[in-house]
Amino acid sequence: MQVFPLMAFGTIRNVRKVFSAGELTSRSAEPVVALDDANFDFDEGQLIALLGPSGCGKTTLLRIVAGLIQKTSGSVMIGGREVTEPLGDYGFVFQQPSLMPWRSVIDNVLFPMEILKHSDRAARERATHLLKLVGLSDFLQARPHQLSGGMQQRVALCRALIHEPKLLLMDEPFGALDELTRLEMNDLLLRIRKETGATVLFVTHSISEAIYLADKVIVFSRRPARVATEIPVSLPYPRNQQIRFTPAFTQAERQASVALGVVPATETAA
Ligand SMILES: Nc1ncnc2c1ncn2[C@@H]1O[C@H](COP(=O)(O)OP(=O)(O)O)[C@@H](O)[C@H]1O
Ligand SMILES: [Mg+2]
Repeated sequence: MQVFPLMAFGTIRNVRKVFSAGELTSRSAEPVVALDDANFDFDEGQLIALLGPSGCGKTTLLRIVAGLIQKTSGSVMIGGREVTEPLGDYGFVFQQPSLMPWRSVIDNVLFPMEILKHSDRAARERATHLLKLVGLSDFLQARPHQLSGGMQQRVALCRALIHEPKLLLMDEPFGALDELTRLEMNDLLLRIRKETGATVLFVTHSISEAIYLADKVIVFSRRPARVATEIPVSLPYPRNQQIRFTPAFTQAERQASVALGVVPATETAA
């Protein structure tokens, strides 16, 4: 019998993406190398932060992992299968909540279940449960315009989780929120992750957000993105805002800053 080595839940190997002339949304006729040799692994249930400067290819990588666009070369395996078409079992949260303005909060959350033709009573109960979990019990029938930006993003999070996906892909989901709301959303995400057990790939350009949330931070270089370094975050869960002031947190921040070229590697503490 052949024995296979234990595989990670997700493996990203030598992934390269060149937007060729036919795919270009910009007017430039030059092909754009968006990703060059991206490599990393993650385990089931982990929260992985993908950290890098704007335009380095993070969104492109997330869309490749979701199977929404094709890579030029390399391999993406999720749950032991090569991703070649849109994954059935993932949730996606974008920077903007993009809710349907004419639908109530609960009907926005239930929308994916309508597409999947599973909008039964159990789905409605789950939607109610998720909305309760994010503190929106009193707003089930409200319309999106009656909610703040942070509340709308909580609805979008529930919508991404309604079909119980194994993998949650989040693309700078809290980037448009004010700092305090963002901190609250970070804590909320950690609670939801604990409750659902979902594996999360979380794109951000905030160093502290990446470290606060993640089991592991993957730092990308400027475009075309390569993995500059991987930073395992050894801080225990559950986390609270106090950990931002611990030496372990500051140490991880420094490591990420060095990898991003924000501070020189050789600088010593004054
Ligand atoms: N459809 C596209 N056509 C042409 N260029 C693209 C397309 N999508 C992304 N790019 C380019 O690829 C690079 C990476 O983009 P993106 O993945 O959106 O970066 P990030 O999410 O890290 O800000 C950018 O230079 C961007 O302009
Ligand atoms: Mg992006």
